[in-house]
Amino acid sequence: MARIGVIGAGYVGLTTAACFAHLGHRVVCADVDEGKVAALRRAEVGAHEPGLAELVSTGVRTGDLVFTADNDAALAGAEFVFLCLPTPTGERGEADLSAIDAVLGRADLRDGVLVVKSTVPIGTADRIARSQRVPVVSNPEFLREGCAVDDFLRPQRVVVGSDDESAARGVLGLYPDAPALVTDRASAELVKYASNCFLAMKLSYVNSLAELCERAGADIDDVTEGMRLDERIGAAFLRPGPGWGGSCFPKDTRALLCTSADAHVDFPLLRATIDTNERQAHRVVDKVREAAGPLAGARIGLLGLTFKAGTDDLRDSPALAVAGLLAGEGAVLTGYDPCVGADTGPVRVAGSALDAARDADALVVLTEWPEFAELDWPAVAAGMSRPVIVDTRNLLPADKVTESGIRLVGTGRAVT
Ligand code: UGA
Repeated sequence: MARIGVIGAGYVGLTTAACFAHLGHRVVCADVDEGKVAALRRAEVGAHEPGLAELVSTGVRTGDLVFTADNDAALAGAEFVFLCLPTPTGERGEADLSAIDAVLGRADLRDGVLVVKSTVPIGTADRIARSQRVPVVSNPEFLREGCAVDDFLRPQRVVVGSDDESAARGVLGLYPDAPALVTDRASAELVKYASNCFLAMKLSYVNSLAELCERAGADIDDVTEGMRLDERIGAAFLRPGPGWGGSCFPKDTRALLCTSADAHVDFPLLRATIDTNERQAHRVVDKVREAAGPLAGARIGLLGLTFKAGTDDLRDSPALAVAGLLAGEGAVLTGYDPCVGADTGPVRVAGSALDAARDADALVVLTEWPEFAELDWPAVAAGMSRPVIVDTRNLLPADKVTESGIRLVGTGRAVT
């Protein structure tokens, strides 16, 4: 079992630290946020991430997982140091590496292997390697928010980029059995961006197909059902929605476009992927306007505020982009989300979906929380001032909703 240091206790760092401790390694996890460190020492996990709080609590109790605000304590004696620091969007859309540079500028690593888990542009790990005395390995993460623990403990792949065979083998050996790819550092870095951007492209494609279905009289659910049967296309990531968001896709698509521009590579497909997504919130608002009439003073209920179901994360949430545009046109917004308790931007947060629907001129489904498919439709209809629902995720059971006298405006299909 290895001694592991993890720098950064965001959702990637914390999941990495807690899962490695669960797998029997001894882990010291550092974060600059002293308040967060104090909470984690009490095994209080802020984020909604299934299974994570239990692993943190066990790790803290057994002593296999230690939290500190001192990076040096995480580096000292570690055989592997995982960098799990944020790489937010910089001024030009590029990945901002200042958090990584600041930590490495002060770190004095003499032993062990330095593992870059943060999402960083091609060439970053090579650059870091030139400034360090220890082997540097690129090991991108593929954790989805909302199932990060499961993704970590049952990985579909582990990608390790290194020019040092024994360092690469050492990092691979820390993980549960999974298909492994050992490659050079640059390729490992690109696997991460290539995967996220491909998924984003798939979604922008589906969202455009849905628009075409609406205009041309086809049904997107049937169309994607037919596509799914082709194994070459794959079954996942074909659900239309209000646009893709979250802490990764928007940042990574922009960063890869920047990397391409720096390398003098024109990448129109990626540009179109981003442009299509930026139009998506406007499309939703157009549909709400059509359904509810003029938006100035209209009362609109919103079901779902997080960027997807299964998380409490509001970062780059398409739901909030839609809310911002609706509020900009003068709509009065009441929202409900099972994971959001406080008013958010222009949205007054209600205690239940029925409360969000009460007196509304239209209801808009923005996040695919399963409970929204099981509402008491006659009660929803009775409470609304005008019973019309715009379902951006095609989540609701069309028959039951329309039987209750509600007009349902789905996505990529006929209005019922
Ligand atoms: C994404 C990737 O899926 C992970 O593999 C990756 O590790 C992670 O980013 C990261 O880079 O850290 P995540 O941001 O948690 O994970 O979100 P996804 O589940 O991929 O969803 C992204 C967006 O696509 C959401 O807004 C979601 O609602 C939307 N989506 C997804 C759809 O609109 N339709 C679909 O069929 C699937």
